[in-house]
Amino acid sequence: MGVPGLLGLAAWSFYVLVLAVQPHQAHSSIRGSFGLNKGAVASPENGICASSVTVHGYKCEEHEVTTKDGYIVSVQRIPEGRDGLTWLLNSPEQNLPLILADNGFDVWISNTRGTRLSRRHVSFVPSQLAFWNWSWDELVSFELPALFDYVYGQTGQKIDYVGHSLGTLTALASFSEGKLVNQLKSAALLSPVAYLSHMKTALGVVAAKSFVGEIGRLLGLAEFNPKGEAGGDFLKILCDNPGVGCSDLVTAITGTNSCNGTKFVFNQGKNCCLNSSTVDLFLMTEPQPTSIMNMVHLSQTVRNGVVAKYNYGRLDNFMHYGEAMPPIYNLSNIPHDLPMFLSYGGQDALSDVLDVKHLLDDLKSHDVDKLSVQFIKDYAHADFIMGVNAKDVVYNQVIKFFKGQH
Ligand SMILES: *[C@@H]1O[C@H](CO)[C@@H](O)[C@H](O)[C@H]1NC(C)=O
Ligand SMILES: *[C@@H]1O[C@H](CO)[C@@H](O)[C@H](O)[C@H]1NC(C)=O
Ligand SMILES: *[C@@H]1O[C@H](CO)[C@@H](O)[C@H](O)[C@H]1NC(C)=O
Ligand SMILES: *[C@@H]1O[C@H](CO)[C@@H](O)[C@H](O)[C@H]1NC(C)=O
Repeated sequence: MGVPGLLGLAAWSFYVLVLAVQPHQAHSSIRGSFGLNKGAVASPENGICASSVTVHGYKCEEHEVTTKDGYIVSVQRIPEGRDGLTWLLNSPEQNLPLILADNGFDVWISNTRGTRLSRRHVSFVPSQLAFWNWSWDELVSFELPALFDYVYGQTGQKIDYVGHSLGTLTALASFSEGKLVNQLKSAALLSPVAYLSHMKTALGVVAAKSFVGEIGRLLGLAEFNPKGEAGGDFLKILCDNPGVGCSDLVTAITGTNSCNGTKFVFNQGKNCCLNSSTVDLFLMTEPQPTSIMNMVHLSQTVRNGVVAKYNYGRLDNFMHYGEAMPPIYNLSNIPHDLPMFLSYGGQDALSDVLDVKHLLDDLKSHDVDKLSVQFIKDYAHADFIMGVNAKDVVYNQVIKFFKGQH
């Protein structure tokens, strides 16, 4: 099993994070650094490398990165494309990491804290509430910087970043604070999420209300596992709301196929190009656990129409930030000469066209020749990572964009 292109996903909104280092320069410094990283704990037999990458004939290394706030994040590296021989095997899935590797990139894939493979911390275990004491602010402050430092340290090369969904939000927020940009060559943001006020998924809207309201407070600091018992119960409560209509969805989210071919991912807009086999594979491992606090933070973004840090409430905001309201991430402050490629879909219910327009408005002072925007009329959220034609429609553009940066 395993769909390599879907590695590094987290939470409800898919989270794909791929760091790529460009071919020619990269290989001189990194060849010969093979094998498991010292101290790596993911055992080679059951890691993602073994289950999803080497089976396709690619070299793959398991790494781990420890963040300053103590999380141990699992990372896979696909240092190069396949040997010529393996071209005779089945053609690889239409997935971006392998396609990038075949195009000579040194590819690193990360698994966000809290997900299946990144559930370790230097002091806490996932059964402790303290393990779940983070939202996407901490991904911005700690996790992405640790990953960039690590990959940059290993390769000595500036990084090309690919993010999807939440992976674009954390990138944009980081760039707006001037983080990562010194080690970054360019960024491709697929299905970009910053503003979320126009999000159309019924479940998302109801969830956003509930997380910010009573349920969020009730659940407090903890893990949110949509596939666990509590998560399932919570979903049922949400689904009882008028208009959400997710009798299909609950079954889908807990992994069994729904009747009628309606699946969780379809609820995030009318995806044009999904292969139901791929969706089934996807649902075997997704959506992955995250923290309640992260869900609350995302919900605040939906409700408040600004991209801001976690809102603890007036009193605690003073303690954390020295002011009553959480500071915003001002996306206009993203360095104007940072090469960026944005690709968004006309059918995306999560990253709505109007919200993307809002983001583009923030980027209106960006250097014209440093910002490429692609609009794909019939694409919805999941098409960007699972669409049967994503290679032709999106990934080839991403590669062309990366190769065009010098
Ligand atoms: C969560 O982190 C904050 C610091 O941001 C700390 O003050 C608080 O005690 C932590 N709570 C738990 C339960 O670990
Ligand atoms: C599938 O779902 C649609 C919309 O909910 C419904 O109209 C249709 O009758 C269903 N089809 C089957 C075969 O159940
Ligand atoms: C869907 O995926 C399956 C399994 O990978 C494959 O055999 C089939 O050809 C795919 N269908 C399309 C339309 O790509
Ligand atoms: C964001 O920054 C820009 C320019 O740096 C400034 O003009 C704008 O007022 C800021 N927006 C907010 C909401 O602070």
